[in-house]
Amino acid sequence: MRVGIYPGSFDPMTKGHLDLIERAAKLVDHLIIAVLVNPNKTKGLLSIPDRVAVLEEATAHLSNVEVDNFTGLLVDYARLKEADVIIRGLRTIADFEMEQNMAQINKQLNSNLETIFLITAPQYAYISSSSVRELVYFKGEYEWMIPEAAFKRIKNIQVEG
Ligand code: PNS
Repeated sequence: MRVGIYPGSFDPMTKGHLDLIERAAKLVDHLIIAVLVNPNKTKGLLSIPDRVAVLEEATAHLSNVEVDNFTGLLVDYARLKEADVIIRGLRTIADFEMEQNMAQINKQLNSNLETIFLITAPQYAYISSSSVRELVYFKGEYEWMIPEAAFKRIKNIQVEG
């Protein structure tokens, strides 16, 4: 059985993430969406349980998808889950530079683990969790960027300025 991991911060999940999950789920037998803490992104919008709940609700139609969370190195989590492949999305050249670095480090840490990249669908290429967070903070329109499951949990959050 081929197990894939789609890791990320998912704070919050966007429609771009959902598109990637739907495509990635067709490439593996079992896909684990892993909510990991990115130490460079400290100021969060949603709690980890809320991020997991959003992902679970938005992917309920995908029978081979599971949502989990983990604190630590992605390679350690992949080993724990006996995963074969990490799947990441690429929107831009800026993503590529960061992703290349991360994939090479992960390969060095675990040579059995491959990272494969899916190019983000063009209609989602300019959507990011960080822009959603900024729009939430400055009270701009962001509902169109995220699944309903995420909007439900974000709309009542009072962001302190
Ligand atoms: O959605 P993001 O923030 O782009 O996801 C990045 C993430 C969480 C996948 C990445 O930061 C990660 O894998 N963090 C876990 C720690 C780790 O394994 N880092 C890679 C070695 S430097």
